[in-house]
Amino acid sequence: MKDILERLEERRAGARLGGGEKRIAAQHARGKLTARERIALLLDTGSFEEFDMFVEHRCVDFGMEGTKFPGDGVVTGWGTINGRTVFVFAKDFTVFGGSLSETHAQKITKIQDMAVKMRAPIIGLFDAGGARIQEGVAALGGYGEVFKRNVIASGVIPQISVIMGPCAGGDVYSPAMTDFIFMVRDTSYMFVTGPDVVKTVTNETVTSEELGGAKVHTTKSSVADGAWDNDVEALLQIRRLMDFLPANNTEGVPEWPTEDEADRVEMSLDTLVPDNPNKPYDMKELVLKIADEGDFFEIQEAYARNIITGFIRLEGRTVGVVANQPMVLAGVLDADASRKAARFVRFCDAFEIPILTLVDVPGFLPGTAQEYGGLIKHGAKLLYAYSEATVPLVTVITRKAFGGAYDVMASKHVGGDVNYAWPTAQIAVMGAKGAVEIIFRQDIGDAEKIAARTKQYEDRFMSPFVAAERGYIDEVIMPHSTRRRVARAFAMLRAKKAEQPWRKHDNIPL
Ligand code: HXC
Repeated sequence: MKDILERLEERRAGARLGGGEKRIAAQHARGKLTARERIALLLDTGSFEEFDMFVEHRCVDFGMEGTKFPGDGVVTGWGTINGRTVFVFAKDFTVFGGSLSETHAQKITKIQDMAVKMRAPIIGLFDAGGARIQEGVAALGGYGEVFKRNVIASGVIPQISVIMGPCAGGDVYSPAMTDFIFMVRDTSYMFVTGPDVVKTVTNETVTSEELGGAKVHTTKSSVADGAWDNDVEALLQIRRLMDFLPANNTEGVPEWPTEDEADRVEMSLDTLVPDNPNKPYDMKELVLKIADEGDFFEIQEAYARNIITGFIRLEGRTVGVVANQPMVLAGVLDADASRKAARFVRFCDAFEIPILTLVDVPGFLPGTAQEYGGLIKHGAKLLYAYSEATVPLVTVITRKAFGGAYDVMASKHVGGDVNYAWPTAQIAVMGAKGAVEIIFRQDIGDAEKIAARTKQYEDRFMSPFVAAERGYIDEVIMPHSTRRRVARAFAMLRAKKAEQPWRKHDNIPL
């Protein structure tokens, strides 16, 4: 009996070595942790239960029958993050570059199926070169099985991808169908085909970093939602993110204890908006002052910075925040900002996360670059996302809410449940100068007349009261009491029930 137990331990120890000590050392030398080290950091200490440690590939081509590693390049199982169940798979780059074989795929799909059955989130740690080239179509079929399950799980359980090495092919397409993608700076890359193939096909010479590094994907392509400096920081931040997310689409947001009183007032907010309407101010200050303990997990921080998206808590419960940022392009809505915010709103709505919208928007960005880039369609995505949302929507207009952007930003008309404005709010079709130049065009040469007309327009429309008179704004609130007012609104809205008519699925302008 002792022998048998020892043999098990030996086999386990062998499996834990993955591709062997040399390859583990190479992994460390590149500043990367191994798959098992990563899982150990991600999950609560000692909570990992591994599945399929002894699975091996069945390929007999290209001499593969003689090269087998238990586990076959992916470590799978489940564990907990702050006591809540999550399923996890981590690509092991030390075994065939973490590439996906038929059996490797079966390990992942087993975990995907269990995560959906248990209605628990799934986290994939990627460090892999796509389909196992020696297996050909068997590997491609394996990816198809993974992709299909990504889509079945979408909107049912949160799916998180962390890119922690050079990733290509299926190892970027599967993440692309998950809710969030995060990267590690300087050690992770994402591309459909790597620099060598690019050189052959297009004759472009490009480095991995230029083609698909964290900077490219967090600032240019928007493929990734955030990046951190190293594996340890990334994994700790994923733990932090998971504390914000519900386990699935029916359980509701988690509730954590907080010492931060919901009725905390912030007198400094009374002077946040400058007297000069064209002077910017930092909307993040408002987000942080509303949030429990000033804790804000930002999504797509480096992309389309004219709009802010991310998670905060109020009374210990998660709230998604969408906020125009006057510091960047005056907070205008352009195609990138609309797409960024639309995807975030849809994530929140799918997972029953209430949404707080903070508005200071001068309108949609004019110009050929935007129109040729499909601003109409991209702007419509955000309008569509808010209009279809059934989660509690609370909106606060701090300053400008002009034109179509007023409608879009969770106005009463598209489904806002509680709509507040600060006394500094200006709700109008456009700013006074533009408006006067159009409706009093005949007076343009007469500076005095124009000034009088502008003053008249400002007095009438550059305030929240025209909207409040119509009930489009439920109440004009004091800036310093915003946290209390918003927290109370969300507390009241917890019982909200709203339904859309039956349909197979909607047809969002993609
Ligand atoms: C089998 C692979 C592999 C693969 C890497 N390896 N990728 N083995 N199949 N796809 C092996 C290498 O042979 C090597 O083995 C080890 O992993 C480490 O790889 P290196 O190339 O030495 O590492 P590095 O220089 O860091 O480069 C990593 C890489 C590169 C950028 C991922 O290996 C690469 O470009 N691989 C091929 C990527 C690819 O084209 N995949 C197919 C995509 S098609 P040894 O024994 O030397 O340690 C696909 C279809 C899905 O995925 C469908 C999408 C819709």
